[in-house]
Amino acid sequence: MEKERTPVIRIDHLTKDYGFGRGAFDITLDVMKGECYGFLGPNGAGKTTTIRHLMGFSRPGSGSAQILGRDCWSQAADLKNDIGYIPGEIELPLGMTGGQFLDMMQKMRGITDPARTEMLVRKFRLDTSVRIRKMSFGMKRKVAIITAFMHDPDVLILDEPSSGLDPIMQKEFIDYVAEERARGKTIFLSSHIFHEVDAACSRAAIIKEGHIVSEIDLDALKRKEGDAFDLERYFLDFYRDGGGE
Ligand SMILES: Nc1ncnc2c1ncn2[C@@H]1O[C@H](COP(=O)(O)OP(=O)(O)O)[C@@H](O)[C@H]1O
Ligand SMILES: [Mg+2]
Repeated sequence: MEKERTPVIRIDHLTKDYGFGRGAFDITLDVMKGECYGFLGPNGAGKTTTIRHLMGFSRPGSGSAQILGRDCWSQAADLKNDIGYIPGEIELPLGMTGGQFLDMMQKMRGITDPARTEMLVRKFRLDTSVRIRKMSFGMKRKVAIITAFMHDPDVLILDEPSSGLDPIMQKEFIDYVAEERARGKTIFLSSHIFHEVDAACSRAAIIKEGHIVSEIDLDALKRKEGDAFDLERYFLDFYRDGGGE
């Protein structure tokens, strides 16, 4: 049982100071296997900064981040195949069609059976014949979603993944995240949308000006408060002046 309690994602006193109070400061959190952990905060709160450390794109000023027992900075290359990532800002090769890009990613990842990618293309209703240059923001978002899930990774790092999707697709996406959680995937979901975190996550941290100001056990609160539970209220309490200090 001891093994079960080892966190899949562990962020330990992680600090990246960009000066002028900007960055992420003393971030500490654990995400267990099969959890979806929400990272909730407005623009500029430090969500992407934290996530870039999980992805090994940025070296911690101090502290550390680990996934599956490996250091996210020094062992980033070893982690690649175990993680699915949806970046906050999506950059894709403009000259390719969506289908060509997905084929290329499958080859890079050594995926020989396209069944899962095809399932995702159908689920998110992507027209793979369209050139990325001509795609709307929402279509590019779909390509990024399919790319993150195609290799069926154990860990998903999702940086505001549903922005740009229409409301129906947004709901479908969040339902899919909840399904993947039920399949035992470990998910880190940054968002500024309460109901999305509420729908998919077991726990969530509220991040404000680079600091975690609260950690919420959503499952426990829902058990306690039932229908009266309102994540938005918790969130706003911490964003009022002085809240959470
Ligand atoms: N590379 C960087 N250099 C300097 N400042 C940065 C850099 N990256 C982010 N910041 C600043 O750090 C703060 C947190 O940004 P970010 O993590 O992108 O927030 P979020 O993703 O929550 O919107 C912002 O004030 C942003 O301007
Ligand atoms: Mg961001």
